[in-house]
This record gives sequence, structure tokens and C-alpha cells, in this order.
Amino acid sequence: MDSSVAQSSPNLGRLGEENVKLKYRLNILRRSLQAERTRPTKNMVTINSRLQEVFGCAFKAAYPDLENPPLRVTPSQQPKFGDYQCNSEQKVNPRETAEYITKHLPDNECAEKVEIAGPGFINVHLRKDFVSQQLTNLLGNGVQLPPLGENKKVVADFSSPNIAKEMHVGHLRSTIIGESVGRLYEFAGYDVLRLNHVGDWGPQFGMLIAHLQDKFPDYPAVSPPIGDLQAFHKESKRRFDTEEEFKKRAYQCVVRLQSKNPDITKAWKLLCDVSRQEFNKIYDALDISLIERGESFSQDRMPAIVKEFEDKGFGQVDDGRKTVFVPGCSVPLTTVKSDGGYTDDTSDLAALKQRLFEEEADLIIYVVDSGQSVHFQTIFGAAQMIGWDDPKVTRVFHAGFGVVLGEDKKKLKTRSGETVRLIDLLEEGLKRSMDKLKEKERDKVLTAEELKAAQTSVAYGCIKYAHLSHNRLNGCIFSFDQRLDDRGNTAAYLLYAFTRIRSIARLANIDEEMLQKAAQETKIILDHEKERKLGRCILRFPETLQKILDDLLLHTLCDYIYELATTFTESYDSRYCVEKDRQTGHVLQVHMWRVLLCEAVAAVMAKAFDIPGIKPAQRM
Ligand code: ARG
Repeated sequence: MDSSVAQSSPNLGRLGEENVKLKYRLNILRRSLQAERTRPTKNMVTINSRLQEVFGCAFKAAYPDLENPPLRVTPSQQPKFGDYQCNSEQKVNPRETAEYITKHLPDNECAEKVEIAGPGFINVHLRKDFVSQQLTNLLGNGVQLPPLGENKKVVADFSSPNIAKEMHVGHLRSTIIGESVGRLYEFAGYDVLRLNHVGDWGPQFGMLIAHLQDKFPDYPAVSPPIGDLQAFHKESKRRFDTEEEFKKRAYQCVVRLQSKNPDITKAWKLLCDVSRQEFNKIYDALDISLIERGESFSQDRMPAIVKEFEDKGFGQVDDGRKTVFVPGCSVPLTTVKSDGGYTDDTSDLAALKQRLFEEEADLIIYVVDSGQSVHFQTIFGAAQMIGWDDPKVTRVFHAGFGVVLGEDKKKLKTRSGETVRLIDLLEEGLKRSMDKLKEKERDKVLTAEELKAAQTSVAYGCIKYAHLSHNRLNGCIFSFDQRLDDRGNTAAYLLYAFTRIRSIARLANIDEEMLQKAAQETKIILDHEKERKLGRCILRFPETLQKILDDLLLHTLCDYIYELATTFTESYDSRYCVEKDRQTGHVLQVHMWRVLLCEAVAAVMAKAFDIPGIKPAQRM
């Protein structure tokens, strides 16, 4: 700076010096941040987030005044557009913006070459060394995500069937999506509380208890053999509708249940036990873990909830009912009915408050059919209105889903026209999967034990996959014929593909120890376009999951697994992995890094199967 200027304006001089110091500090900070990011980590790198950071820095340097750089990094659809594309969403002069950003790109470990294409896309080519290093890391350390969920808690409300009623396919879809959501968040390091908000309270228990008293009068002493709870429910409903005396007694039972009369409470518990045993058959078969915390859990909290809304001036009385209007919601909540009873609205409000304040959840997810979205919108709106929930702090999310239909696009029915019982659905899955295995004569090569493992793996895998692989926002058609097909995007195809990949090393006599050693010593070269494509696809796993953590659209995981399997096949078919003598079958040459690439695919696939809880069999 010109000394005469500094003298004439001492302030300017001082500010100039300060500015130099600050710039110096900023550079140090930037460098250590960069060092921190490129420090080798055991976790897989989420490449699109990393590129987003790199381009974010470039954007900041190019346009220091803009707060949040309007940038989007997505995987490229075609190889000619590089591996990723960065698109500035700045509307003016996109081409110029792209050039300016590119000029300011900082040194980084992942992008090798960038080119500007079309009206302002930036095509990014990943460094070959970076890709191969990432794959080596994956083989050595396993498939691990960055610790996104450290010290964060998720409450997932799913399954939630109703006591003394049949658990139906809607509950099954909720169970399968909810379980996958739980596993996904656990994998990302969150603490997950899985809650089964069963319908275990309400006036219907009056008639059930009254009927129990008549049919099994010694129930307090001897556990009643209620074989068929559905029939029991129907019978008590019929009596409730036709017998005046019975109806009166049913009402009394409700009152006595609410006042915690021990005998009546015992009857209620017995009924819940019978239902629970039925539900557990499904949960055990599908390996679902859930804590039962139904509507009854909130009973004692409900009077205070109603009072809180009244005290804060949100309560209204309408035709003897207590209601709460929520701005923007067309239907008010009913917190107390005209007969003094509480409703689903009251128990959901109480449960939500408990999850926010006692569980201290950072994220609360309800996996419930989309038919109930108005209910949840209103409940969530009420929680914000009364000041329990600040959406900036806690995310409360209804992950709705469409109905499950049969092949005729109508309600899922059995051949004789009745609604399908879930336990029968699982049975049929098992039977059909065994038929299929026998048709392929697998019973001739597999041991009885292996055959059974393959049967359950395919049957339950297909049922889970069927409910997940359609966008949850749409309905889904359930057809065993389609689902057990081992072609196309089905669990059957993927499970077969997986066992095949797993067998490549084994058939070349390469054991686990040799693989581990090779993983450390062998560089993964990727010298063919198909292999590069496969390498990139493998490394897209973390970003695929990260997106699902946000939108809970699990079908994108299914699409990813399918893409991985088909990309693998393309690459495997075009390049030798293991060369064998055609006549003798002797191994002539092993291309070790290609075998390692197969192993990387298998490792990612295994992890991807683990999220929906699909369990591959050793042999199929
Ligand atoms: N039991 C309800 C039903 O069968 C689902 C409950 C969902 N969870 C909740 N917190 N409301 O439709």
C-alpha cells in the first residue's frame, strides 16, 4: 500500500493490515480443513457430497458475496458426460458461471478433469487413483458409511396392527418399510427406537371383555383358549348390535377398564396376549424387531394433553365434543368425544409429545398408509401450533404409502374370494419357492438343509422386495408369479446373482485369507470402460443411502441393487476374471484385481440386502 495513502488515512492502513492477517488465518483454516477431509478414513466417501464441497469452495471463491452456492452434483447418465455433473442453478449466464467456477476449483483428491458442456454443465471425471483407492479401502475395511447419525435418535412408528383384528397387507407393507427404515438408520449410526403403536385401547374392548366374561367365566384363573380371535371379535360385535343387555354391560366394561379395575384389566391383557401371539408369528418369520407401545401407553397422559390445549386457548367445544382447530387443516382434531372418551387424535398427540420431550428424538417417522395423511398433517400441525415441535430442530415425518392390491388390481383376495391372511401369504410364498427350486432340480444338488435355507431366503426375500421395490407413494400389485421370477428386478434374480458372484473366488480356489492379502497388495486397475462403470456404480452406494435417509423412498435402493447386478454382469461377460482350460477345467490364470472387483460388488450387495433384511443363502 502507498505509504502516503496510509498516512493520510490511518484507519484504512489499519484495516488493510487486519485484512492481510485475516486472509492468512483463513488460508490456514482452509488447508487444515482440506487435510482433515482427505485424511484416510475407514468409511466410504459419499462422492457427490465431497464434490459438492469442492465445487462449493470454487463457487465461494468465484462469487464471495453469495451465501449458499446454488449447486447440484449428480452422477452422469452417460460416460461421455464424465462421472458426475455439476450444475449451477444460478440463472444468469450459466456458461460464464461454469467457466468462472472451474477456474477457481481448488486442488482436491477426487476430480481429475472437468469440462464445460452445453449451456453450463460441468462434467467431472474422477481420478483413476481415487476410484481404485476407494475400492481398496472398501475391501480392507468393509462397507461403512460416514457417521451421519452420531448422537442422533430416531423414533420409527410402524406396523401398528389392531388388537383382536386381522393384521392385513397394509400393516405388512408398513412392517417391511418400517423395518428397512430402522435398519438403514442404524447402519448410518443413529440410535433407533422402533415402536409398534398397536390399537390396544378404545370402546371396542368393552364388548370383547363382556363376551369373554360370558364365554370363559373363569378367565381370571385359567387362561382362555380363544382359538380364533377374529371369530371371537365378530361374535361379540353381533351381540353388541343385537342384545340390549349385552351392550349396556359392554359400556360398563369400558368404564371399569378406564378406572383400572383389576379383573377387567386382566381380561384386557389376555385379549392383547392372544393377538400378540398372532402378530409375533409374522414378526418372527420375517425377523422384525419392534417394541410394543400401543395407544394404551398414552392413557394416563391424555387428560393433561387436553388441558394443555385448553389452557393455551386452543380448545373449543362443539356439540359436546372437545376439538382443536389447526390452521391450514380442514378437519379439526377431536380430543374428547361427547361421551367423555378419548380418541386416536388424543393418543397420537400424547404419543408425539412423549417422543419429543421424553425420548428427545431428533427425527420421528410414521410409516402408515397414505389414507391417514390428513390425520398426521393435523397432528403435526397441532404440535407446532402449541410449541412442542420446532421443525427446524426436529423432523416429524409421515412416510405414507399406497395400498397393496392383487393381480386383478383389486383388494388382495384368496382364490375363494376371502381377504388374505398374512400367515397364509407367507405359507404360500414358502410353498411356491420350493416348487420353483424343485422345478430347477436344485433338490438334486443341495442338501436338505441348504434347500430349506434357499426356500426361506427366496420366499421371504421376495415378499419383502415386492413391498419395497415400488415407490411407496404409489400402490403396489402383489403377484407371486412375478415376484418369484428369477429374471428382471426381483429378489429371486438378485439372490441368484449374488450367490454366483460369491462363488467366483471359491471356484478358482481362492480362500478368504488369500483375498484379504490380495486386497492389500493388488491395485484395482479398471482398464476397460465396463469396469470403470462398475467401479463407479459400487462407489455410489453411500450417496444412494444418503438420499434415502432424506426421502425414505426405498425403491431407489432396489433400483440401485439391480443396476449394480446388471452392471456387474456386463463387465463380467466382457472380461476374463479367471481363465480356465475348457477341457479340464483347470485354472490357467487368475486376474486377481478382477476377482477383487467381484468381491467389492458382493460386499456392497450383502450390505444392501441387509437393509430390507433379505438373507442370502450360501448355496441356491
Ligand atoms: N392402528 C392403526 C391402523 O391400523 C395404525 C396406527 C399408526 N400409528 C399411529 N401412531 N397412529 O390403521
